[in-house]
Formats: sequence, structure tokens, C-alpha cells
Amino acid sequence: MARESAQQHVRQSENSAGAERSEPVLHQHTREIQPFGRIAKLPIALAEKTCLDSIELLNQILADSMTLRDLYKKHHWQAAGGTFYQLHLLFDKHFNEQLELVDAIAERIQLLGGISIAMAADVAETTMIPRPPRGREEAPAQLSRLLEAHEIVLKELRTAARLTAEAEDYGTNDLLVSQAIRTNELQVWFIAEHLVDVPLARVDSGTVSAR
Ligand SMILES: [Fe+2]
Repeated sequence: MARESAQQHVRQSENSAGAERSEPVLHQHTREIQPFGRIAKLPIALAEKTCLDSIELLNQILADSMTLRDLYKKHHWQAAGGTFYQLHLLFDKHFNEQLELVDAIAERIQLLGGISIAMAADVAETTMIPRPPRGREEAPAQLSRLLEAHEIVLKELRTAARLTAEAEDYGTNDLLVSQAIRTNELQVWFIAEHLVDVPLARVDSGTVSAR
């Protein structure tokens, strides 16, 4: 009897020892390994000051691009009216393109040794794009709001493109010019054309030329 219970005890402790080893170690909190604003320099043959300057420019563009990305999703969900279907699809297409851009900018910040802004509260504190209402807006107001947001981002992008070229941070410059500026410009075209006030079914008789 005593021997049986001893064996049982061994089996139980073996079982619990095995389980302990496969249990996740939860609630682990410690100091951050890199505070925001500090640089963890990588060997990419760029001066620390150059990296710091580019990181600062990129984090502002990142916060505004994340806001613009989310503005597209808001409008995708809240679209209304006769152009619902096409705008619903277009807004989501632009959302996905901004999502890709945001990832490229954030990862550029990390490879420059910086820390990318990531969370919504930090984005909200940093962005220069005016906060939209929580409620729904009419399609022309949605479109205008998007164009204004794009222009804020494009202005920052052009300044950052010039400064990074001067500082010879060509990797960042290429991302800004080839990817960020061109994506934003193309999206502006697609959005702005919706605000050209042309008739849908009948031409304006005033524009018909006499023969
Ligand atoms: Fe959707």
C-alpha cells in the first residue's frame, strides 16, 4: 500500500514537472531595452546625426500616414449614397496601399536604429491631420477630407525628400520619393477626379459646341 502510494507520488511529480516545463511564463514586465528617441545604431555607414534626423522626419510621416490609412477605413465603412459601391472599394484599395507604405516607413525607422511610433494613442498625439467626427459624412466631404490629409502628408514628404537627399541618406530618400510621394500623388488623382462636377446622364447643354 505504502509502496503503491509512493509510486503514485513519483508519477504525479513526474507529470507535474513535465507540465511545468511546457507552461507559458506569464506576466513578465521589465524595463524597455531601448527608450523612444534613443538610437541603436546599425553598421550602415551613415552618421548617427543623419540617422536621428531621418528618424524624426519619418516618425512624423508615419503618424500621419497611419491616420490617413485609418481615415480610409473609416470612409470605407461609412460610405453612403449613389457612389457607395465604387467608393467603398476604392477606399479599401487605398487603405491597403497606405498599410503597405506604413510598414515600409516603420521598418525604415527601425533599420536606421530608431523606434517607430506604433500605438493609436501615440499616433493621435503626433499627427498633424485634423481629427474627423465619429459620425458619418457625405461622400464629397469624405473626399475633401482625404485630399486635405494627403496634402499634409505630401508637404512633409517633399520636405523630408529634400533634407534626406542633402544628408545623403539615399535609402530613406528613395523610399520617400519612389514609394511614398508617388503612392500619395496617385491616390490624390483617383480621389480628386470624383469631385469634378460633371453630369452623369446628360451633357450640360452649355458645353455643346455649335456646328
Ligand atoms: Fe471591408
